[in-house]
Amino acid sequence: MKEYICTVCGYVHKGELPDDFRCPVCGAGKKAFREVTPQAQPEAAKPTPVPAPSVHEERELSAMEMSVICSNLARGCEKQFMPQQAEQFLALARFFRAAAGKADKKSAKAVAKLVEKDLSEGYPYANAVAQGAGDRGAMRSLVWSEKVTRMLQSLLARYAKVGNKMTENTGVYVCTICGFVYVGDAPPELCPVCKVPSWKFEKQQRRAK
Ligand SMILES: [Fe+2]
Repeated sequence: MKEYICTVCGYVHKGELPDDFRCPVCGAGKKAFREVTPQAQPEAAKPTPVPAPSVHEERELSAMEMSVICSNLARGCEKQFMPQQAEQFLALARFFRAAAGKADKKSAKAVAKLVEKDLSEGYPYANAVAQGAGDRGAMRSLVWSEKVTRMLQSLLARYAKVGNKMTENTGVYVCTICGFVYVGDAPPELCPVCKVPSWKFEKQQRRAK
């Protein structure tokens, strides 16, 4: 029997792929699937020189970016058992979120651009640096985050097509360990990226209009 692997999340489908097939895990279409052939074993990584990503100019961050950074810092504080600091960062995140206004297709497009840049420049560079330093921990976390970023890219592509319909009458779950975003009625039994059980997923609350 033929087997196909989703190049976005690694889900393996046995048997033929219908034209309207969607990956049950990440929602990618048929085009994202490759046939698994016996010799298609992962090759040993060859060290290739990778140019450093273009240097970002110093610029003022948008309110939305500030909100995202503050909520990430809040999460970091939570994990370090620093509840007071986490609460302060959360308050800041809420403040900037309110100042940022409503997210729309335009802001999703801007995020898609950043994601594309991360995948084409950021990850190759970070991987090369981690491999050069022989830092296995960094390499492992880069594997996870690159997978999560690819899935995010596929979700953003879907959002660009269907808009808010994508999350109507369904839930959005985020893996609290690796950041994998899942759109569906219930979180997957195991995170397809980091393999933690479903209870490690957090349901995202719909914002009040
Ligand atoms: Fe995960």
